Amino acid sequence: MNSQSLILQLISVSLLLSVPLVSPALQPAPGCPTKCGNVDVPFPFGTRPDCSLDDSFHVICNTSFNPPILYDRDAPEEALEILEISLDGQMKVGSLMAYGCFDKKWLPMDYQLYAPKFVISATRNKFVAVGCDTYAFIEGSEEKNYFTGCTAMCDKIDRVENGTCSGIGCCQMSFPKGVKGFRLSVHTYGNHTLVKDFNNCGYAFVIEQGSYHFSSSDLMGLRKRINDYFPVGLDWSVGNLTCEEAQKNDSSAYACRAINSECYNPSNGIGYNCKCLPGFQGNPYLVNGCRGTN
Ligand SMILES: *[C@@H]1O[C@H](CO)[C@@H](O)[C@H](O)[C@H]1NC(C)=O
Ligand SMILES: *[C@@H]1O[C@H](CO)[C@@H](O)[C@H](O)[C@H]1NC(C)=O
Ligand SMILES: *[C@@H]1O[C@H](CO)[C@@H](O)[C@H](O)[C@H]1NC(C)=O
Ligand SMILES: *[C@@H]1O[C@H](CO)[C@@H](O)[C@H](O)[C@H]1NC(C)=O
Ligand SMILES: *[C@@H]1O[C@H](CO)[C@@H](O)[C@H](O)[C@H]1NC(C)=O
Repeated sequence: MNSQSLILQLISVSLLLSVPLVSPALQPAPGCPTKCGNVDVPFPFGTRPDCSLDDSFHVICNTSFNPPILYDRDAPEEALEILEISLDGQMKVGSLMAYGCFDKKWLPMDYQLYAPKFVISATRNKFVAVGCDTYAFIEGSEEKNYFTGCTAMCDKIDRVENGTCSGIGCCQMSFPKGVKGFRLSVHTYGNHTLVKDFNNCGYAFVIEQGSYHFSSSDLMGLRKRINDYFPVGLDWSVGNLTCEEAQKNDSSAYACRAINSECYNPSNGIGYNCKCLPGFQGNPYLVNGCRGTN
């Protein structure tokens, strides 16, 4: 074999190795970061345009914080901090609360959260209001008309039952499907005048079910947490076609890339999700993502 044909052979081998099996946009570029600070960023999510499946999965890792902070979009004022992403179509973001306090006068502070690319989980979140002279509203923002609220009252602190949120000092409501954002507001009937010794503020927040256990100490104590994040569960899915449509009409854009993967339609929101077949685990969105477990 002369050197020319050896070179040709080497070139063709390297070409073979470098030809991707699928359109490159559907797989992350080599060397894509898979973490931002302490948060895993699995594909289809990516912190660079060539690392995410499409725009809706392009998330922002801001490394000027230590540890770096992951945001859902490039909009510093409104972006949501992502606390966790999991491959089962769920994620968690940080949300603040709305509150109102009567010090010398009634000073309410509303709170609004909007997740344009995702949908707020209808099954994993609760709307909660805490107070003894409090009613609070939640209103769907953008997309969907939705407006409701609940009232939390109590006359004596020893009537309040720890761990029970059913109207005495705390009320809660479940969350509807298809909501991408909400606005919270807190109101009072009588300025907390009759309960001010143990409760001078009302609070309202959305929080992942099971992450909040009401306690009488919150009637005063939640005021210290007005800058704290409450975890809110979001659902994510790919595109706006169902599994059947996506498989049928544009299979080159079909995101369930792993050989041992399958598609399913989410119960909340549009688009589809992928999962590894039983007996396999890993990332169904990557070509060789689903591996046998035995
Ligand atoms: C990161 O956060 C800082 C401080 O809020 C901000 O000034 C900067 O623009 C952000 N960088 C990116 C890439 O978003
Ligand atoms: C609540 O306080 C405001 C002043 O901030 C006052 O105008 C209003 O009458 C009070 N309402 C009640 C029911 O006490
Ligand atoms: C409820 O919990 C708070 C804080 O943990 C505690 O101070 C209070 O005594 C508890 N109340 C009852 C009735 O157990
Ligand atoms: C579905 O997604 C495509 C591509 O992102 C977009 O062009 C189209 O307008 C969307 N269709 C609907 C009905 O939302
Ligand atoms: C997929 O099919 C739907 C309905 O059958 C059609 O409206 C849409 O344009 C198709 N999309 C692509 C990318 O072929």
